[in-house]
Amino acid sequence: MSERANEPSTLSERANQPSNVSGELIIEGLSVHYGGVTAVRSVSLRVAAGQSVGLIGANGAGKSSTLRALMALVPRAATAVRFGDVDLMRVRANDMVRHGIGYVPEGRHVFPGLPVEKNLMLGAYAQRWNEQVRDTLAEVYEIFPVLAEMRRRLAGALSGGQQQMLAIGRALMARPRLLLLDEPSMGLSPKLIEDILAVLQRLSREGMSILLVEQNAKLTFEATTECLVMENGEVAMQGASQELRRDPRVRKVYLGL
Ligand SMILES: Nc1ncnc2c1ncn2[C@@H]1O[C@H](COP(=O)(O)OP(=O)(O)OP(=O)(O)O)[C@@H](O)[C@H]1O
Ligand SMILES: [Mg+2]
Repeated sequence: MSERANEPSTLSERANQPSNVSGELIIEGLSVHYGGVTAVRSVSLRVAAGQSVGLIGANGAGKSSTLRALMALVPRAATAVRFGDVDLMRVRANDMVRHGIGYVPEGRHVFPGLPVEKNLMLGAYAQRWNEQVRDTLAEVYEIFPVLAEMRRRLAGALSGGQQQMLAIGRALMARPRLLLLDEPSMGLSPKLIEDILAVLQRLSREGMSILLVEQNAKLTFEATTECLVMENGEVAMQGASQELRRDPRVRKVYLGL
């Protein structure tokens, strides 16, 4: 990546983007109803270009529903959902990647019967072997050396942590401007959570915008600059991650201190 001589650009600098996309994500008044159940109630948040924002909350708070609504995977209502110039309320789920949005859903979802490298290729924007895809693949292997070692292995034979890395790597193959992650730390050892944190910090340093959904508040405060706390479908608190982590109620409820 940036430390490689003669290769000045990073994944996000070379993002597969039309130049008119400034890259700010704006969500205003987003709601999700499942039948009679309101899972998300008028949530507003922003992720500036290059910023990392966290969304934490307990089981059932509405975090995944917020991301799924952003990705047009569930019926939603909103005052506005925009990414740069693009009105995401008019974009279908399958087209989000074209607008620079990468999504790592809850629970990995790799293709177990396909080799690691094939799984990664499925995330590539063009899905054809060309120079750009080759460079991006090399970069993903540099970020996750374990995937390079296991490139020919079937994804189903990887450990849970390795599958999580594969899921993130696959999203990176499309060179997103904005990466949405739903509980990447779930089920991982403390060591692997540290690895994921290091990857998120690296991507953020390189200019990628990140929206990180997590139950792991400690990880989220370290990986982000701003954070929102969701409770019962609503934003209960928000602020700078460094300030929220010192809030007495957050310490008690979300950090167990
Ligand atoms: N497909 C669905 N149909 C009906 N209700 C749903 C559906 N998906 C989620 N819900 C409900 O919506 C609420 C929010 O769920 P959601 O999955 O968004 O929470 P979450 O914050 O991601 O929780 P977790 O940390 O457990 O993943 C919950 O009450 C859940 O039961
Ligand atoms: Mg969830």
